[in-house]
Amino acid sequence: MAPKTPSTPWLSIHLGNFMPDAPDSWQFLFDRAKAADAAGVDKLTVSDHVVFGENLEEYGRPEVGGVAGGKQPTGPDGQWLEPMTLMSVIAGIDNFFLGKRKFIEPHLRNPRFHFAEFDLLDKNELAKYFEEAKPDLVWHVAANSDISYGTSFTDFDLKGGTIVTYNVLEAMRRSGAKKLIFSSSGAVYGEPTIMPTPENYGPLFPISFYAASKVACESLITAFVHNFDMQAWIFRFGNIVGPNPTHGVIYDFIQKLRQNPEKLVIRGDGRQEKNYFLVEECIDGMAFAFRSIPMTDETPCDVFNLGTTTISRVVDIARLVRDGMGLADSLIEIEGTKKAWPGDQPRVHFTVDKIRALGWKARFTSDQAVDVAIRRMLGHLGPLEVGS
Ligand SMILES: NC(=O)c1ccc[n+]([C@@H]2O[C@H](COP(=O)([O-])OP(=O)(O)OC[C@H]3O[C@@H](n4cnc5c(N)ncnc54)[C@H](O)[C@@H]3O)[C@@H](O)[C@H]2O)c1
Repeated sequence: MAPKTPSTPWLSIHLGNFMPDAPDSWQFLFDRAKAADAAGVDKLTVSDHVVFGENLEEYGRPEVGGVAGGKQPTGPDGQWLEPMTLMSVIAGIDNFFLGKRKFIEPHLRNPRFHFAEFDLLDKNELAKYFEEAKPDLVWHVAANSDISYGTSFTDFDLKGGTIVTYNVLEAMRRSGAKKLIFSSSGAVYGEPTIMPTPENYGPLFPISFYAASKVACESLITAFVHNFDMQAWIFRFGNIVGPNPTHGVIYDFIQKLRQNPEKLVIRGDGRQEKNYFLVEECIDGMAFAFRSIPMTDETPCDVFNLGTTTISRVVDIARLVRDGMGLADSLIEIEGTKKAWPGDQPRVHFTVDKIRALGWKARFTSDQAVDVAIRRMLGHLGPLEVGS
């Protein structure tokens, strides 16, 4: 067949994808696809579900979703699309060290999502996976995201952050993958003399093992991109809040008040101030930068602070959690130490002018993001108010 050019006609057909006789079988899809290929069809299209809403975990639970719950997927259609549309995939890897399978359950049903469970410290497994997947774009977000571990196990972030990142970069190099999005952290600034802190602040003197690891990761990334014709978008986040936390201040306060509704003890001096923003805004910001800010031969990688322009105080978060849980009479007690734990940064405030000048800003203020996150975690979600 002659090669296709933009002006050559293309023949596409839609694959009928419901088989009333054998709803559980998808073999007929392959048979039809092969027949279409043999007949010279250039493109196949198949329909797919769009899943949206707050309680996405219900999507994967037939007893509340599906036919019984009146939510997608309906009837037998859950079974047939996956094998077909898996041919164009998002590949995800997690070892559920901090994340939980139930968080991604709804996405496991997405026919374009392929998931593998293994530890990114397994360099050979990772290299093999990349070799097969040949990813066009790598979002590397895996890390130990709980900063306090580092003090008890001093090689924890070295392995789970730095070595894991090296393994990802090496797998990229070996498989020919060129583009990387990396989640660093505002923690790299340590206790800076300039606040709000810009991206070009330095030297970077981190105060936690976690942040030291992020600085090392950033350095490895710049070395790889410069030596192996890669490109990287590095993001330093504030505190991300979302519906499925495994740790963090809001999560801690909720747990503590569930255990003792009479009193909430705040570690540190209660005056910690940090920039909080919603996980969907975080992803949106990264995607914006990737789409809109091209890397070049001269600048193959760049770094962006990502968050809101505002910050929230921990004592205000405590009040919001307490009130949100209907425990307005609970006593809030402040421990009084300067830091909540060794390695904690009482104030994290960086400037997001760089990404704003390039055209992206968060829609929610830090306080609004905290409020939304509390309501999500408590299951009290009402209309969201936006403004900055
Ligand atoms: N949450 C925040 O406030 C925040 C702030 C700044 C930077 N970051 C960075 O953003 C990224 C995502 O953070 P998050 O809060 O979503 O963390 P998270 O813990 O919810 O997600 C990280 C995921 O990586 C997985 N993982 C960790 N080590 C792994 C390994 N060796 N192999 C396979 N999977 C592994 C964990 O199981 C988890 O599901 C992290 O790199 C974190 O350091 C987070």
